Amino acid sequence: MFVLIWATLLFSVRGSSLKETCKDEFCITLSEGGITAEAGLCAVIPCSFTAGPNFTPQNINWYKCESEQRCDESDIIFHTKMNNNKNQSGRVSLLEPDVSQKNCSIIINDLTESDSGSYWLRVNGNSSKKTDDGFTYTPKATVSVKDPTQKPTVMIPPLTEGQQTTLICTAPGLCSGSRPKITWTWRGTGENDSHITANITEFKTENLTAVTQRHSSTLTFNPSAKHHGTKVTCKVSFTNSITIEETVTLNVTYMKPVITGNTTVKEGHALNLTCSVESFPLSNITWSILGSNANRLSEPNTDRQNNSGSATLVIHNVTAEHSGQYICTAQHLNRTVTVFADVTVTWISKVFNNSGCKVQSQVLTCVCISEGFPLPTIKWPLLKNYTEYSVHTTMSNHTVNSTVTLSIKGHSSTTVECVSSNEHVEAKENLTVQTDASEQEDQHGPSAVLPFAIVAAVSLIVNVILIIYVLILWNSRKKVKSNQEDRTYMSLKKTDQSPDYDVIGQPLN
Ligand SMILES: *[C@@H]1O[C@H](CO)[C@@H](O)[C@H](O)[C@H]1NC(C)=O
Ligand SMILES: *[C@@H]1O[C@H](CO)[C@@H](O)[C@H](O)[C@H]1NC(C)=O
Ligand SMILES: *[C@@H]1O[C@H](CO)[C@@H](O)[C@H](O)[C@H]1NC(C)=O
Ligand SMILES: *[C@@H]1O[C@H](CO)[C@@H](O)[C@H](O)[C@H]1NC(C)=O
Ligand SMILES: *[C@@H]1O[C@H](CO)[C@@H](O)[C@H](O)[C@H]1NC(C)=O
Ligand SMILES: *[C@@H]1O[C@H](CO)[C@@H](O)[C@H](O)[C@H]1NC(C)=O
Ligand SMILES: *[C@@H]1O[C@H](CO)[C@@H](O)[C@H](O)[C@H]1NC(C)=O
Ligand SMILES: *[C@@H]1O[C@H](CO)[C@@H](O)[C@H](O)[C@H]1NC(C)=O
Ligand SMILES: *[C@@H]1O[C@H](CO)[C@@H](O)[C@H](O)[C@H]1NC(C)=O
Ligand SMILES: *[C@@H]1O[C@H](CO)[C@@H](O)[C@H](O)[C@H]1NC(C)=O
Ligand SMILES: *[C@@H]1O[C@H](CO)[C@@H](O)[C@H](O)[C@H]1NC(C)=O
Ligand SMILES: *[C@@H]1O[C@H](CO)[C@@H](O)[C@H](O)[C@H]1NC(C)=O
Repeated sequence: MFVLIWATLLFSVRGSSLKETCKDEFCITLSEGGITAEAGLCAVIPCSFTAGPNFTPQNINWYKCESEQRCDESDIIFHTKMNNNKNQSGRVSLLEPDVSQKNCSIIINDLTESDSGSYWLRVNGNSSKKTDDGFTYTPKATVSVKDPTQKPTVMIPPLTEGQQTTLICTAPGLCSGSRPKITWTWRGTGENDSHITANITEFKTENLTAVTQRHSSTLTFNPSAKHHGTKVTCKVSFTNSITIEETVTLNVTYMKPVITGNTTVKEGHALNLTCSVESFPLSNITWSILGSNANRLSEPNTDRQNNSGSATLVIHNVTAEHSGQYICTAQHLNRTVTVFADVTVTWISKVFNNSGCKVQSQVLTCVCISEGFPLPTIKWPLLKNYTEYSVHTTMSNHTVNSTVTLSIKGHSSTTVECVSSNEHVEAKENLTVQTDASEQEDQHGPSAVLPFAIVAAVSLIVNVILIIYVLILWNSRKKVKSNQEDRTYMSLKKTDQSPDYDVIGQPLN
């Protein structure tokens, strides 16, 4: 039974049946078909014997030679008397050291081709005839050693990105011979090879029994996406340059969601975001919107496509309400990873109706109010033709209120253009100028009939008056400033033009 277990364990016996052969009550049981073993590994010669009733076995010898008659002392490969049951530099051992058990099975380690051949058993002991008797059994055990076919076993636990793991490479056989050398090599899928680092822990030998050992080596590393698809080879080198190896491809479960697309969208345009997940196996990808906007994903103008590895979200004709945080959720096995995208819809309102211009005491005051995101800037093209004016701007939330004040110098246009723009869009409006009835008279009074020469003559005096006015205006504007949110841009210069009129009065508020 013991012998059979060994035969199975070491995969070294072909032809399973054991055969007993007897001569004069001296019987030996050997494996019938001979033993086939692999170079580098070991072979067990299963064997048991009986001796005649008058013979007490003391020790046993195993010979290796071509014919029984020509075997001599130099052919002894095992002798129980020698070296603690181990001979041939420890290559050969008896499985059962107690000879009285009549178990003559031996294990031969570090096999090479030259171990192929015939093996004979001789039992020495005491008989009734003499104390130093012996018996050589004529049936032989045959061993044939061939090139190795077994490969190391590489044990790979499930590999998950970020979870340190250990690969174990185990040499085949359970041989107690020389320790094989185990080495690991790593072959990447391409350029990234140099990024792979791992720790090879100490070689490990487990003593299973007195004569069997398991040799293994472990490789510890932190798996990441870059390891997926790489090949790891474990090479086992036995004595006599016999090497065997096994290569495995690593499958790392990993996940990397990435959102692509422009998160800044103009109102009325389409939001088009793609969430891609590089993973093995493929992930389940879903889009959602944070908070109150949650139902927007079911709007009719929303397209969602989920193909292998990516999900595209398209919202046509976005409005300001589509701004917000969009969430891509990738579910991979039982792991869920989310990534966020902050979507900004840029927009601008029309110029508000409560914008407008007024002329009062020859001072034109225009107010232009507009909304938008990002906050718009209001420009007055009219100002290109003036060197003297003040612009007052207030901003609150998305609203901008720009007020321009300037003295009109004779020529009065009926409309003033206000241009509100942010970085992506602009809104323009022509504001109509309302003139106070009391001012009308003045406008159509002497000014219309005065010849140009008179205008030139009084221009110097008017300039002086204007400077005084400017100073008054500046002071009054300073006092008016009260709103803490205000930003005031003021530009006041002495005019080069000759005014048609004296300018009196306060700016309109
Ligand atoms: C295994 O046995 C060998 C001798 O047979 C001994 O040198 C070694 O220390 C043992 N190893 C372990 C881990 O028991
Ligand atoms: C290798 O071992 C060292 C020291 O034990 C440790 O600091 C390092 O993180 C290990 N590397 C890997 C990839 O396991
Ligand atoms: C990795 O996956 C491939 C294909 O799914 C499979 O053929 C291979 O055996 C796997 N490798 C390991 C070590 O599980
Ligand atoms: C995103 O769209 C905005 C508005 O259409 C554009 O100004 C911006 O350059 C785009 N950004 C990228 C990265 O394409
Ligand atoms: C969304 O963007 C992708 C890539 O930029 C493009 O191929 C696709 O046609 C776009 N879809 C729509 C509806 O604009
Ligand atoms: C993907 O997720 C949805 C929602 O959680 C679920 O109904 C569906 O079965 C999942 N599909 C796969 C292939 O896991
Ligand atoms: C875009 O949305 C606005 C407001 O919801 C609507 O008035 C307009 O007709 C839409 N345009 C298109 C092309 O769907
Ligand atoms: C699911 O997650 C738990 C802990 O997070 C882990 O122990 C388990 O192996 C995972 N199962 C699968 C199938 O990934
Ligand atoms: C500025 O003056 C020129 C010439 O007087 C005129 O053609 C132009 O329309 C004026 N521009 C504005 C913005 O009023
Ligand atoms: C500005 O926004 C804040 C918070 O969003 C709000 O409480 C406030 O009423 C807004 N102010 C105006 C003038 O709209
Ligand atoms: C404002 O008036 C000018 C000429 O008076 C014209 O060219 C422009 O298109 C008008 N703008 C708007 C928004 O009506
Ligand atoms: C705009 O600003 C002007 C001057 O600061 C102020 O008189 C006016 O009331 C403001 N209009 C609005 C609608 O806020």
